[in-house]
Amino acid sequence: MGTAVAGSTFQNLLYEKKGAIAYLILNRPKVLNALNQAVFAELKAAFEDVRDDAAVRGVILTGSGDKAFAAGADISEMSTSTGVQAEESTRHAQAVTELIENLGKPVIAAVNGFALGGGCELAMACTIRIAAETAKFGQPEVKLGIMPGAGGTQRLPRLIGKGRALQLILSGEIISAQEAYRIGLVNEVVPSANLISRSEAILNQINSNGPLGVKYSIDAVNKGLDGSVSEGLLIEASLFGICAGSEDKKEGTSAFLAKRAPNFQGR
Ligand code: CAA
Repeated sequence: MGTAVAGSTFQNLLYEKKGAIAYLILNRPKVLNALNQAVFAELKAAFEDVRDDAAVRGVILTGSGDKAFAAGADISEMSTSTGVQAEESTRHAQAVTELIENLGKPVIAAVNGFALGGGCELAMACTIRIAAETAKFGQPEVKLGIMPGAGGTQRLPRLIGKGRALQLILSGEIISAQEAYRIGLVNEVVPSANLISRSEAILNQINSNGPLGVKYSIDAVNKGLDGSVSEGLLIEASLFGICAGSEDKKEGTSAFLAKRAPNFQGR
């Protein structure tokens, strides 16, 4: 494990690339991987590196230790910040979540423990959430006299519906992985020992498909959810047109007709 971004050394993040998968591990286990500004800066650098590396086709984001994915924003850092500083740092955190959401490559949050506050928000920015049986989720910010600030008020209702989102945000209740699965916050719940292997299997399945089709499907879903259905359909048609003019489409359709496996180039 170590940094793969040239010229920088991460203090709070382990970053490794193995084949087509990049592994990012939040690494402040003594404070349950709490997210301070340095973590967000390192996440930004790592995700930009992943985005720009054509050899990487997907990401697994998880937490170090067996207790937490991330227990939220760093409360000691937050306790001394002014309103103006907090607005600035929350905008930076939000920009990182947008980078992850629109990376153009699937990002799996492999949630190995507490995903609270900013930790839950970080997981929600990922393409897919796989939870260990021991994972726990919640938006407990109101208990600290604040509110979600890294996208929770926007992404949670889009994932689980307005009523359930408001109940979680207003109560600050912490829920189990099974409950998170029941309400649609996570895609699957697996035994802790299988968390990474199941995440890898999902990415490998996605990676066997055309990279352009994967990238533009993510774009169409994300951009479509921002507006009306008819605007979304227009975005879908435009991106479908780009895919349909690609070499990958020629390869995918030819391979199907020749009854062979496709060899996609992402062009
Ligand atoms: N920030 C800073 N430190 C944290 C932290 C956080 N979010 N969460 C845990 N820690 C620290 C604890 O202070 C403790 O440190 P010490 O050993 O030095 O005392 C260490 O991590 C272990 O934590 P606990 O002893 O509390 O562990 P526990 O098993 O008893 O409880 C827990 C676990 C329920 C997750 C509890 O730690 C907790 O409630 N943490 C805070 C969760 C929270 O409120 N998150 C939201 C933050 S605000 C936010 O995220 C805003 C946003 O939208 C961006």
